[in-house]
Amino acid sequence: MNVATGRRLGVGLISAGWMGRLHSRAYRAIPDKYADLEVTPDLVIVADPDLANASAAQRQFGYRQSTADYREVLAHADVEAVSICAPNYLHREFALAAAAAGKPFWIEKPMGISAAQAADVVAAAESAGLVTGVGFTYRHAPAVEYAKTLIAQGAIGRITNVHCKLNADYSADPRGARTWRFELGKAGTGVLGDLLSHGFDLAQYLVGSPVGAVSALTETFIKERPAPGAGTGHNAAVADDAPMLPVENEDYAALLVRFGCGAAGTFEATRVGVGSRCDYGISVHGTAGVIGWNFERMNEVEICSGPFARDYGYTREMSDHRFGDFARFQPGAGMGLSFDDLKTIEGARFVRSVVSGTQVAASVADALATSRIASAAIESVSSGRWVTVPEPTGKTTFDL
Ligand SMILES: NC(=O)c1ccc[n+]([C@@H]2O[C@H](COP(=O)([O-])OP(=O)(O)OC[C@H]3O[C@@H](n4cnc5c(N)ncnc54)[C@H](O)[C@@H]3O)[C@@H](O)[C@H]2O)c1
Repeated sequence: MNVATGRRLGVGLISAGWMGRLHSRAYRAIPDKYADLEVTPDLVIVADPDLANASAAQRQFGYRQSTADYREVLAHADVEAVSICAPNYLHREFALAAAAAGKPFWIEKPMGISAAQAADVVAAAESAGLVTGVGFTYRHAPAVEYAKTLIAQGAIGRITNVHCKLNADYSADPRGARTWRFELGKAGTGVLGDLLSHGFDLAQYLVGSPVGAVSALTETFIKERPAPGAGTGHNAAVADDAPMLPVENEDYAALLVRFGCGAAGTFEATRVGVGSRCDYGISVHGTAGVIGWNFERMNEVEICSGPFARDYGYTREMSDHRFGDFARFQPGAGMGLSFDDLKTIEGARFVRSVVSGTQVAASVADALATSRIASAAIESVSSGRWVTVPEPTGKTTFDL
């Protein structure tokens, strides 16, 4: 554990899967990377119904206690802030309980299995007057922050159109387990929530304007998968004789959109894209240039802007101290950050929100905004028509 500096902030963790472990690592890194915050997260208690997993996380990260019951986390007197890293169908219950306990929470996307559930979370958090954080991990990547600054300064002129893709291969193997992610009742949507929630937030963050209308199609390419054995999430084992179960949500989605500011956009996502590892990219095109970023090369940005834009096309800039929080992690240009570092940036924004009382992290209202786009996409798939997305409500931060 890092040497304690400044104020202690008691933290509780609900669910110690992939994300729960990553939140824990982020809390531990904060006193080092964000010493000026003068906050030392104190890892108090972790809950997971898989008790072996909870106590392994306790040992690994130095939580003082572990339990199977999330209510013990919320009731603990030393817990001042909570991470909610459960599968989607538990988000609403846990978030409402955290709000009732008056504890600010950092919750994973997509925040529930539907826009209605996300709206309940926003209502509970905002009526309790809580700051929140949401796992929109890509919006604060230093290269994305740099792109946002350039776009806001007018470097690409008026935004005309946006292209966003989230093509992954994490479920490309048809023998991959049919975990909670493939069940309607546990995940809600497929790629619309799991991947495109990130893309919707990223696009709205860079454009500074909400998606206002959607026309969509979806496909499920792999119709059934073997039941999961031991383990959790993407690492669940599969026995040779495991029964096959239906895949209940979409493997693929494609959307045409119109942003509130008038810009056009396209989004595409797959979780079964053979060859696409984490091909999560966005390009924002304007009347005077274009800026592109891709998570697979997250420490650089491609820019075409300035007086010679039409002559030279894209140039590549590597991350340096001008890029968001880069200098907190690396001293020299071109030295890379990792996915875990992005989670530390996200966690530091949540902690800063908690100790300052000012919402500087992505908020539950931002998550609701992305859920409403997903919901409009589903409606469009069934009606075959364009669907209007309701205006964002609540304390959004993508447009600040
Ligand atoms: N921000 C990101 O980039 C990102 C990446 C991956 C996942 N996620 C999100 O994080 C969440 C968790 O995903 P994951 O990949 O960590 O899942 P996971 O399957 O690895 O872990 C889920 C954990 O929840 C626990 N759990 C199940 N029931 C519970 C209960 N009743 N109470 C408490 N814990 C319970 C499981 O035992 C498991 O340890 C999902 O909402 C997912 O969409 C976000």
